[in-house]
Amino acid sequence: MKSNELRQMHLKFYQERRHQLAAAASLIPENDGSVLYVSAGMQPLIPYLKGKKHPQGKRLTNIQRCIRTDDIDEVGDDYHLTMFEMMGNWSLGDYFKEEAIKMSFDFLTGHIGIEPCRLAVTVYKGNDQVPADLEAVKTWQSLGLKDSQIFYYGDDENWWGPVGETGPCGPDSEMFYINDLEDCCTSCGPACDCGKYVEIGNNVFMTYNKLEDGSLVELDQKNIDVGLGFERLLIIKNNLENVYETDLFMPTIKVLEDLSGLVYDTSNQKYFRVIAEHMRASVFILSDPSGIKPTNSEQGYILRRLIRRTIRMCFKLGLHENILKDLAGLIIDQYKAVYDQLEVNKAYTLDQLDMEYKKFSVSLESGLKYVHKYLNKLNDHEVLSGKDAFKLYDTYGFPLELTVEVANEYGKSVDVNQFERCFKEHQGKSRSGSVNKFKGGLSDHDDMSIKLHTATHLLNAALRKVLGDSVYQRGSHINSERLRFDFSFDRKMTREEIDEVEGLVNEVISNDLDVTYDEMSLDQARKLGAIGVFESKYDDKVKVYRMGDFSLEICGGPHVENTSELGRFKIVKEQSSSSGVRRIKAVLE
Ligand code: ALA
Repeated sequence: MKSNELRQMHLKFYQERRHQLAAAASLIPENDGSVLYVSAGMQPLIPYLKGKKHPQGKRLTNIQRCIRTDDIDEVGDDYHLTMFEMMGNWSLGDYFKEEAIKMSFDFLTGHIGIEPCRLAVTVYKGNDQVPADLEAVKTWQSLGLKDSQIFYYGDDENWWGPVGETGPCGPDSEMFYINDLEDCCTSCGPACDCGKYVEIGNNVFMTYNKLEDGSLVELDQKNIDVGLGFERLLIIKNNLENVYETDLFMPTIKVLEDLSGLVYDTSNQKYFRVIAEHMRASVFILSDPSGIKPTNSEQGYILRRLIRRTIRMCFKLGLHENILKDLAGLIIDQYKAVYDQLEVNKAYTLDQLDMEYKKFSVSLESGLKYVHKYLNKLNDHEVLSGKDAFKLYDTYGFPLELTVEVANEYGKSVDVNQFERCFKEHQGKSRSGSVNKFKGGLSDHDDMSIKLHTATHLLNAALRKVLGDSVYQRGSHINSERLRFDFSFDRKMTREEIDEVEGLVNEVISNDLDVTYDEMSLDQARKLGAIGVFESKYDDKVKVYRMGDFSLEICGGPHVENTSELGRFKIVKEQSSSSGVRRIKAVLE
């Protein structure tokens, strides 16, 4: 089935069930500064989910293009995209759970053709405020799903929204396609990232409004917000293995083969795929009526990252000519029948790509030479200094994430905190504030970030206790919601190991340990057995933070004063980051 046939099939299915076709929105949220891009079809509908009357009634459907940059490092695998199309249907206080689930089921089994035994779903298991979602369970059971196909999760996995800090949200029931019928491990389930379960959609029972103080109040009406993954269903419908085999991407892959003279295969597919994906996202962003262009802040910075990463990947394929316009022209022709603004804004899109290419391609070559020289000089366990990363940013126009990516290819990480300090010194605090919103690796030091920073030390120590001393920190990023920690380790952690690490950290937290530090020379710190990033350009004295006998780590701080301030530590994800490097995401509850 061609991509456009699937779009039509979806819209027809819901229109036949009395949904009105609502116009999709621009990629840039209107009157909403809390997020940079529209990331879900419900976003433009927020006032209506809260009770305002929609001019088209209570049942709506559409297909909304969305940008989600969280998964940018995953792009290149079979499924993850920075831009995707969400096939949505909504009930604004009209039908509810049972009918919504039944419609999703009919569409997925009857129209996409998924065998019911290949479906898995998750449901909300409840907390002390909101009960377990037994109605969703009953409905899935009535449709023939066995207990082994129904999984129960809590707030991390099965509560959706709000977008930003406040607004409509609620428990949800996610739907997964079972790729491979073998379990990967005893605790395998939809939350496991082994690849067995592919998320294809989400039914959100949007019944709450989250207020600024964090409390939940019931909305006046019970809404349904369903999003189905267009590209993923296209893969399944056509029995393909990955999104690049679909007619959405194959034309770009073919042209790239022609231009590079290379055959697309497993040795180079990551470059082909990232170029195809990032170019498509860039074209959609550039042709948006809001007139976004590549810059160093906000939406423009995301766009710049996408384009500059594309240019570097082109270099990897030996493509040193400017081919961005050729690719963009192809993508515009391919999608303009569905998204007419691509054609309308074509001249602007091509111009911007041209200018960005000119700005970056010259400095890319010299910047790469510089970074390679510095990376080659580093000893084991040394990281690229934030000063070098800043020089690459300031002089050569390397987005920080690009430098991190190049460093990772050498098995190295970057001192992102030092980069942040350099950035602040050079640019002044006001600008860095806006960059912090999305610049991976940078954090602002609110209370939660400080707590997560302390928890990162505990995690680092616990990992070494459970997995052994070969574990070293490879990177870390903290924002006010979660910590992310990359470390050297060459396989997936087992459920038991994850539980053990989590248990150890929580044990230390409950021991009420004071967090103290001493200043000493790097050499003394090394002799004491402190872990941490031994960076050659550290100032003479370093701070060594201690938590009882459990953790001794070189770090600049800041930290909490006592571990009891941290609350409960929870690992929400363990996944691959790059070869030989694993990534953990964790929160404090
Ligand atoms: N808003 C829901 C989601 O994005 C459907 O998953």
